[in-house]
Amino acid sequence: MSFSTWQKGKGKLGHLDLEGALTARDRVGIQDFVLLDAHNSETAFLDNLKKRFSEDLIYTYIGTLLISVNPYKELDIYNKKHMDLYMGVNFYELPPHIYALADNAYHTMLTEGNNHFILISGESGAGKTEASKKILQYYAVSCPSSALLDTVRDRMLMSNPVLEAFGNAKTLKNDNSSRFGKYMDIQFDRQGDAVGGHILSYLLEKSRVVHQNHGERNFHIFYQLVEGGEEDLLRQLGLERDTQHYNYLVGGECANVSSINDKNDWKTVKNALSVIHFDESDIEHLFGVIASVLHLGNVHFDGDTKGYAVLNSNAELRWVSKLIGVHVQVLQEALSYRKIEAKTDEVMCPFMVDHAVYVRDALAKAIYGRTFTWLVNRINESLENQDSTRKTVIGLLDIYGFEVFYVNSFEQFCINYCNEKLQQLFIQLTLKAEQEEYEAEGIEWEPVQFFNNKIICDLVEEKYRGIISVLDEECLRPGDATDLTFLEKLEEKMGNHPHFVTHKLADKKTRKTLDRGDFRLLHYAGEVTYCVVGFIDKNNDLLYRHIKEAMRQSKNSIIRQCFLCDEVDSRRRPETVATQFKNSLLELTEILMAKEAWYVRCLKSNDNKQSGKFDDVLVRHQVKYLGLIEHLRVRRAGFAYRRRYEEFLKRYKPLCPDTWPHWRGVAADGVETLVKHLGYQPDEYKMGRTKIFIRYARTLFATEDAFEICKHELATRIQAKYKGYRAKGEFKKQKEAATKIETCWRGVQARKERERRAWAVKVIKKFIKGYMTRGQAKTTDNSEYLAFVRQSYLNRLKGNLPKTVLDKTTWLTPPPVMKETSEILRQLHSRWLVRKYVRGITPQKKAQMQMKVITSAIFKGKKDSYPQSVAVPFQDTRISEQDINVRVLQTIRHERIKYSVPVVKYDRNGFKPRPRQLILTQSAAYLVEEAKIKQRADYVSLKGVSVSNLGDTMMILHVANDDHKQKGDLLLQCDHLYEFLTKLSVLANKQNAIKVLQGSIKFEIQGGKENFVDFSTGQEPLVYKGKNGHLTVVTPRTRTR
Ligand SMILES: Nc1ncnc2c1ncn2[C@@H]1O[C@H](COP(=O)(O)OP(=O)(O)OP(=O)(O)O)[C@@H](O)[C@H]1O
Ligand SMILES: [Mg+2]
Repeated sequence: MSFSTWQKGKGKLGHLDLEGALTARDRVGIQDFVLLDAHNSETAFLDNLKKRFSEDLIYTYIGTLLISVNPYKELDIYNKKHMDLYMGVNFYELPPHIYALADNAYHTMLTEGNNHFILISGESGAGKTEASKKILQYYAVSCPSSALLDTVRDRMLMSNPVLEAFGNAKTLKNDNSSRFGKYMDIQFDRQGDAVGGHILSYLLEKSRVVHQNHGERNFHIFYQLVEGGEEDLLRQLGLERDTQHYNYLVGGECANVSSINDKNDWKTVKNALSVIHFDESDIEHLFGVIASVLHLGNVHFDGDTKGYAVLNSNAELRWVSKLIGVHVQVLQEALSYRKIEAKTDEVMCPFMVDHAVYVRDALAKAIYGRTFTWLVNRINESLENQDSTRKTVIGLLDIYGFEVFYVNSFEQFCINYCNEKLQQLFIQLTLKAEQEEYEAEGIEWEPVQFFNNKIICDLVEEKYRGIISVLDEECLRPGDATDLTFLEKLEEKMGNHPHFVTHKLADKKTRKTLDRGDFRLLHYAGEVTYCVVGFIDKNNDLLYRHIKEAMRQSKNSIIRQCFLCDEVDSRRRPETVATQFKNSLLELTEILMAKEAWYVRCLKSNDNKQSGKFDDVLVRHQVKYLGLIEHLRVRRAGFAYRRRYEEFLKRYKPLCPDTWPHWRGVAADGVETLVKHLGYQPDEYKMGRTKIFIRYARTLFATEDAFEICKHELATRIQAKYKGYRAKGEFKKQKEAATKIETCWRGVQARKERERRAWAVKVIKKFIKGYMTRGQAKTTDNSEYLAFVRQSYLNRLKGNLPKTVLDKTTWLTPPPVMKETSEILRQLHSRWLVRKYVRGITPQKKAQMQMKVITSAIFKGKKDSYPQSVAVPFQDTRISEQDINVRVLQTIRHERIKYSVPVVKYDRNGFKPRPRQLILTQSAAYLVEEAKIKQRADYVSLKGVSVSNLGDTMMILHVANDDHKQKGDLLLQCDHLYEFLTKLSVLANKQNAIKVLQGSIKFEIQGGKENFVDFSTGQEPLVYKGKNGHLTVVTPRTRTR
């Protein structure tokens, strides 16, 4: 968007209808004097003011300066709607208003982050206090809010009615005239929240407590208390509901004023006190003080014969004593005598009646004045901002306005001097400084003439030569100084001063207007004649020491705090009132000079507080002395805004691509480039030596608007960048964290691994050492190894045990340490196997085994084929009874057949083989051929049995031959040789008769003959009759024996 488009479009669209109405109304006259054609004409200036005033348009600008004309009537322009309307809107977009100025100051403070103050000036009754209240209300409503801040804000708002009650009074000029100066700082945090406040008060006109001019009143609070105070309260304070009853309230003879509602105001003040957080005792003591002042005013002194004051303990005195908590006796003495210290003694010196009254009044003023200061401090405590971060402030200065009465005294002198100082400050900051700046910056400039009131300020305040110095000198000098001697001194010193005149110094004409006791100052705002009476006294503001001491004993906490010991003890003379005031104004000037200024110039429309009346002469006079025309001239010719190049560039450089983000060259060139880019017209600005000067505020506002838009774009960009940066940072952080965790984890793992390895090394070492010393006795070195060896051996052994009793080979070779154990185990295991085996044997098997044992006893190690026979089980018989011939059976049944087996019988001579059945009975062996029993050999007659040692199955049964029926020995071949012979040996009980022989075996044949059977080994099994006539039996050699 180009700059000119902004300018056109800068008005806010779619504002409330109200704005439309306002702008329409605003067509009356000109809202900013800068736009006035006849800007040099005072008449045109006044006409414009008047025209607007007649339409209730009381505000008009001169640039950013606001002129306010007191309408003396309520205008409906201070409501919430109006506040909302002006909130955050550029100064010139809406008709002039005090809110616009307040808002502009606020936003400038926020954007520039610096301190500001609003100087509200104008004579008494012009509307300064009202203006300051409006500003405060605007901030209270428009600033961001929170519960906590609301409290601070409420307190700030409520401090006004309280301070006004105690510090304002009705004067001839103003029904609510400020009788003290007030500077209030409103503190804002960076977000623009009002977070605290601080009030400085200046010189309260306390003489009003004891004296009021005709038509004036004492401070409002007295009337509010008497009129509005609750019955109970009045009773407690000993007050009557009658202002006429109190001497201090009747002086002005106008206790009741139509514009003031004391009863209502009392309620407001009471409520305000509780909002500001005054507790019960504070409030009680505070009203005690106020009531005590009223009572004090009624304390009456009688005169004795010598004229000395006599004070009887009357009711009023007792009330004073009660309320300020000082013993009545002490009070009575303090008010009627003065203690004079003479060397070591104290002399009580009685007062004359006048003097006693003076002392009483001095006490009343002191009590009230100090209580007022206490009140300000107390309010400050409750407004104090608790947070210590940096704050920016907007100061509001509302001070008593310039005033001229019929009789003007020391107070008016101070008030008018104060106004003189503020005018000086205004001149300094606007007319003088500004023009000097143009000159310094080398800006072409036609100087504007203006009246500089420095001359009057100097007249009053100059060291050694000013009026205050002369007054102080007169107050402090020994001897009889009076108000008149002071006047003389003034005349001496000021003699020729153009702004000073007295009766003596004046020309004939003027002299007529002056009394002898007067001096006249030609103030910037007009002539004021001061009556010197009371100047010395008021400047000294003396309160006797003994009175202060009496007050120190007070039981009223406020009074006690007001009369602190150090002050009483201090022997140094305190500074005079005027000097104190001068110094406090000096400090104020310094405070203000450090801030940016905004001005509200209040004008009084008429002297009669009359609404709708525009007193031309009066207004013209004010316009003149306030220097408004000069201000306009400087504004017109001058520049609304200036800023150092560096600052200007820093703020607005984002608006031009050449200057953003950095301008490398000289700042002034950067600014030149920038404003050219923005399209500034040549008449809109000037380049000074160090600053750029912008002529019209609107140019700046347009630039500011452009910056606002640009700022948002920038903010978005910066935000995006920042978000990216944050995300990157976050990612980096996460990555770092991951790496860290990884590293840590690896470290943990590595440490674990290292531990494991170290452990392993230890174990291996121990193992090796154990291994090396395995043969030795158990030591710590090898014990574990041995245990391991033991265990591993046992474990292995467990899986490799022999499965059968006969398995003698399977047994793991034990390590040396286990030899013994292994042997025991082996035996145990073997025994266990045996037992298991034995338990598994059946009776039949057992019988068979027993038979086999017999067989073994006979043949083991003797006959070659024995080993093969061991595994072959014996049977009960080899021929079942069915297969034996019945006749044979019948023949031998009685002998019980025990065993039968087929055999081959060889003839004893021819050796012819013949198959036969051999049957064993209980008592004999039968050789049977079918049904024929071929031979019966009684066991008794069986001499023996011979077999060869070879693998054949031939046997020779030797039978006794003494029985001739016997045919001789039997040559039999039986496949079940062992089985048969075992059975036979058992049946015949002939174990020992069975012989295993080598080589040839002799046998007998019937008739005492004998032959041999030759046994040999050969390739084939053969049985034949050898050449030698022997039976030859050849058996293949058995491989193993
Ligand atoms: N903006 C306003 N609208 C209506 N009335 C106003 C306005 N300003 C001032 N007044 C009236 O004028 C009276 C005097 O105004 P204010 O007390 O503000 O004067 P001042 O400048 O503070 O005088 P002083 O110097 O005596 O304190 C107010 O009480 C009020 O009645
Ligand atoms: Mg005021």
